[in-house]
Amino acid sequence: MATSAALLTPIIPQQAPTRAPAPIVKWVGGKGRILSQLEPLLPAGVEMMRHVEPFFGGGALFFRRQPLRALVSDINPELVNVYEWVRDAPSALVPHLQALAKGHNQESYYEVRTRYNQPGMKSAERAATFIYLNKTCFNGLHRVNRRGEFNVPAGRYKNPKILDPEGLLAASAALSQAEIRQQGFEGLLESARPGDFVYFDPPYAPVSDTANFTGYAKNGFGTDMQVKLRDVFRVLDRRGCKLMLSNSDVPLIRELYRGFTIDTVAAPRAINCNAKRRGKVSEVVVRNYR
Ligand SMILES: C[S@@+](CC[C@H](N)C(=O)[O-])C[C@H]1O[C@@H](n2cnc3c(N)ncnc32)[C@H](O)[C@@H]1O
Repeated sequence: MATSAALLTPIIPQQAPTRAPAPIVKWVGGKGRILSQLEPLLPAGVEMMRHVEPFFGGGALFFRRQPLRALVSDINPELVNVYEWVRDAPSALVPHLQALAKGHNQESYYEVRTRYNQPGMKSAERAATFIYLNKTCFNGLHRVNRRGEFNVPAGRYKNPKILDPEGLLAASAALSQAEIRQQGFEGLLESARPGDFVYFDPPYAPVSDTANFTGYAKNGFGTDMQVKLRDVFRVLDRRGCKLMLSNSDVPLIRELYRGFTIDTVAAPRAINCNAKRRGKVSEVVVRNYR
C-alpha cells in the first residue's frame, strides 16, 4: 500500500489539470458508456451528499461527478494502491511509466509481468506497473491465478497509451479530497452515514439460468454474495442513505430487490466473438428513492 506516498516530494510540480477527469484504467464492467443513462437517476440534491462507491473499479461515475466529498473502496489491493499513488503523488509514477512505455513490446510485456509477480517490487513501481499491464494486456482484464499471480496474456494494440501525465493529474485532482480504502463492501456497515449517496456496482449476477440455479459465478461473486449485498442495501436503506445499484436484469436480482424502485438501462454487451450476441443488453438500476 502507498502509505508513504503522501510523504514523497513530487518529481514534477503539481499543476492544475488541463482536462476533465476520466478513468485511468480500463475495467471490466466499467460504466463509462452508460453514464448518460445513470445521471438522470441520481437523487435530487446529490451535489450536497458524500459520494460513496464500494465497488470502485475504474470509477467512471465518480470521475464524471467529481464529488467534493467521497469514500471510495474496492477489494482489490493493487487497484487501491494505484489510486493512493494517483491521489498523493502522481508524478512519482511518471518515470516508471516512461521507462515501461519506452521498452514496450510483446516480449517485454511478459518480462514485466514476471517481475510484477515476484516479491520485492516497491509500491510506486508496482502501481505504475499495474497501469502498464492494464493498458497493454488482453482487453484490460484483471485475472490472477491461485497463487495470486497476474496471468493475463498480452493484448494486441498498435500504440497503447501507457503514459498519460494529464490524465493522471486530472484523476489526482478529482481524488484529492477522497478517502480511499481497501475493503469488501461489508465495510460500509461501519462507515456509511445517514445522508450519504451510495452507488453499488458489484460483479453482476450471471445471465444464464443454470449458472443462477447453482449459485456458481465465474467472477467469484455467487448468489450468496448477492444476498449479502442485498442485506447491506437494506441496512443502509433503514439508516437513511440514498442508494443506487446496478446489476444484470435477471429474476434473481428482481426478486432480491422487490419493493425498491427498479429501472432498466440499455448497456452495450461485453465484447463477444459471436456476432449474434453483440448489441445491447438490459441492466437494472435499483434505487431506494424516486
Ligand atoms: C463491475 S466492477 C466496478 C466497475 C466500476 N463501476 C467502473 O465504472 O469501472 C466491480 C468491482 O468490484 C470489486 N469487488 C469484487 N468483489 C468485491 C467485494 N466483495 N467487495 C468490494 N469490492 C469487490 C472488483 O475488484 C471490481 O473492481
